Amino acid sequence: MTATTAPSSNGKVFDKSVGVAVLGMGTVGTEVLRLIAENPNAYANRIGGRIELKGVAVSDLSKPRPGVDPALLTDDAEALINRDDVDIVVEVIGGIEYPRKLILQALQAGKSVVTANKALVAAHASELGEAADKAGVDLYFEAAVAAAIPVVGMLRRSLAGDQIQRISGIVNGTTNFILDAMATTGATYEDALAEATRLGYAEADPTADVEGHDAASKAAILASLGFHTRVTFDDVHCEGITNITAEDIAAASEAGYTIKLLAICEKLVDENGNKSVNARVHPTLVPNEHPLATVDKSYNAIFVEAEAAGRLMFYGNGAGGAPTASAVLGDVIGAARNKVHGGRAPGENPYANHPIADFGEVTTRYHIDMNVVDRLGVLSLIADHFAKAGISLRTVRQEEAEDETVARLIVVTHEALEKDLRAIVTELEGTEDVLEVRSVIRLDV
Ligand code: HSE
Repeated sequence: MTATTAPSSNGKVFDKSVGVAVLGMGTVGTEVLRLIAENPNAYANRIGGRIELKGVAVSDLSKPRPGVDPALLTDDAEALINRDDVDIVVEVIGGIEYPRKLILQALQAGKSVVTANKALVAAHASELGEAADKAGVDLYFEAAVAAAIPVVGMLRRSLAGDQIQRISGIVNGTTNFILDAMATTGATYEDALAEATRLGYAEADPTADVEGHDAASKAAILASLGFHTRVTFDDVHCEGITNITAEDIAAASEAGYTIKLLAICEKLVDENGNKSVNARVHPTLVPNEHPLATVDKSYNAIFVEAEAAGRLMFYGNGAGGAPTASAVLGDVIGAARNKVHGGRAPGENPYANHPIADFGEVTTRYHIDMNVVDRLGVLSLIADHFAKAGISLRTVRQEEAEDETVARLIVVTHEALEKDLRAIVTELEGTEDVLEVRSVIRLDV
């Protein structure tokens, strides 16, 4: 922190300034720099001191960077971090190993860090949190989950007095955009993905979006904060949307459901009162009357169920440069305020340390779409398989298939253990009567 006497637009003179270094100038970094440049007085008044941009680290110095003073650009991120006049380091590079090294260096050097990097936080929250604690500085990552939606702050602060039971979220804008476009405009998967990429929602490698990895990182962060238990990316069961077909979407719609890729974080309590937590990402049939079903385009929403607060929903822009930069700047201002006035933001606190429950132990419901041999008694034979497994059926719908020897059977089960439902699908696949299991989608809200 350095001394300054420059007055703000309302005449107030701030005698302190906070030095900020920005690492990365992609979609998000560019918007972070725009907000810093456009709002100096508002930020100074909110902080009680001025933000001074000390440098911007980029990988390619030869690339034109309109709107940024060339004197601020450097390709030496480490030197920038270690400058004495840098108090806060903003990491918007992406990736894991390189930013991890830089963030650890920054924390060890006593700089507070703001990162938008969900993959890094989901994999290394404990190492980063410990480094921040040791140095007595802040580690903020609001933008890592659902960009502009203030869900990290909500879990860290607003709901700190409550007991969270379940968090169900649409936390990936790209996949929500794709599923919504397929359902409402009849767009192909490929066209919808290309459009999401063009609009800047998708990751550099959109595999992370469509395979559910991006949502799994966010689920790990939400579960860690919500249940005060360290949950990492590797703990999250993850299925993406690449197997969802136009036929699945049509069948869901006919039955009154919308298919969403949900990140679900749940606290389980067994018959002896023992608690465990599970986090998972998979396509889910959401009843059309549920608030999550109405979340369209690239929007995100987080549905929280807490003991005292009841049901809460947070909705908004979960991807894109400006919405992500909004969350980053919120964190920068929080960190800057702490630099000026003292104090630290609440960090993760995994004191509860619940065991991670295997996905097989989770209760869910299955929507199974299969082709069966169209002959007398086949329906009761299939029902018999479920009955023997102790799984009760909620609805059974039979439709004609193109081939008159084949019937399409759509079965929705009542609640059962994931491992039992999985076993029955394997069993059905092995019978002569079931020609093909076309799709299995869970009902899990
Ligand atoms: N690719 C992500 C999404 C961006 O589509 O939501 C925000 O993490």
